[in-house]
Amino acid sequence: MVDEKCLVLGIESSCDETGVALVQWQGQAMPTLLSHALYSQIDMHQAFGGVVPELASRDHIRRVLPLTNEVLEASGRTLADVDIVAYTRGPGLAGALLVGAGVACALGAALDKPVLGVHHLEGHLLSPFLSADPPQFPFVALLVSGGHTQLMRVDGVGRYELLGETIDDAAGEAFDKSAKLMGLGYPGGPALAKMAEQGDPTAYKLPRPLLHSGNLDFSFAGLKTAVLVQAQRMVASEAALAAGLPAPSAQPNGGSTEGFGALPLQQRNDLAASTQAAIVEVLVKKSLAALKQTGLQRLVVAGGVGANRSLREQLNAACAKRHVRVHYPELHLCTDNGAMIAMAAAMRLQSGLQQATRTYAFDVKPRWPLDSL
Ligand code: KG4
Ligand code: ZN
Repeated sequence: MVDEKCLVLGIESSCDETGVALVQWQGQAMPTLLSHALYSQIDMHQAFGGVVPELASRDHIRRVLPLTNEVLEASGRTLADVDIVAYTRGPGLAGALLVGAGVACALGAALDKPVLGVHHLEGHLLSPFLSADPPQFPFVALLVSGGHTQLMRVDGVGRYELLGETIDDAAGEAFDKSAKLMGLGYPGGPALAKMAEQGDPTAYKLPRPLLHSGNLDFSFAGLKTAVLVQAQRMVASEAALAAGLPAPSAQPNGGSTEGFGALPLQQRNDLAASTQAAIVEVLVKKSLAALKQTGLQRLVVAGGVGANRSLREQLNAACAKRHVRVHYPELHLCTDNGAMIAMAAAMRLQSGLQQATRTYAFDVKPRWPLDSL
């Protein structure tokens, strides 16, 4: 029985991406991804400057079944071939989670197949196991998504010890909020990172919060405020210059960043680069501190911010010096997707930690600490 092939359908709907995937495994062999499909709602939410939960839920409803058909067709399977239906149970937006959970449980009930609710961050954490060069346990994990920034010690599937986390904003939020005040839309992380490539990371002096705190916690709210103040200062200086006045020496109090988009491109690129440098430096130094504290020689980076090129370059360089191996998910699996949910379900089932059940009365967990698993 254990050695029979098992096909998991995974459904992700915790935020603004609907993801569906099929993962298969046999015995103790590493599960493999057969197909995955994704629909991003970013264009829809952009007009509002952020995710509108109600609209997100409604859109997940429209997408889940067509995406399911897409992955089944792509891998030459039918619904009848699915052995287990997995879905994101939390954390995330309650209404959005309910859509994935509802569809998964309805499919399970209709097919008489067991279902399994998966932790979204465990999905991110285990997503590097979908890559050609998967990590080995134990490792330190840097989880950097839009809503979470955590360092974990990972000794195996389901064996997670929280080493440190953000006390306010997540790294992704620091990217997104800074990008927003620079007029880069939502989610601005990738756009800010693109601008940063043409900028000077040393141009503006920005804080590195909690860098020397002596623990592994993060804080990014103050950095966002410092970026805001710097942007206001740049706008005020440019306005003064245009009016033939001397640049204001004092910090503009409550000034606007409205004219930011009209500033010379190099200035904007420089602020983007300085912002990214501050975030990346903190993430890199804290990751190194976590490796030192645990004595581990492997680092896994997961979550949307893990797609950031500068973060990857600097982590790779710092870790190479210390003979530490760094693993990332494939670039397209860094942000939310169904593959990581199907994979996490497969790895949990395979490890014997959990069983899928024919319990179709579901609940979701919008708040759900990973180390409580
Ligand atoms: O993991 P994810 O897809 O969603 C959550 O679970 O939150 O992460 C999304 C976050 C957003 O904040 C987005 O701006 C950020 O990841 N992000 C990036 C990059 N790509 C995505 N931040 C910086 N540089 C990138 N290249
Ligand atoms: Zn995520």
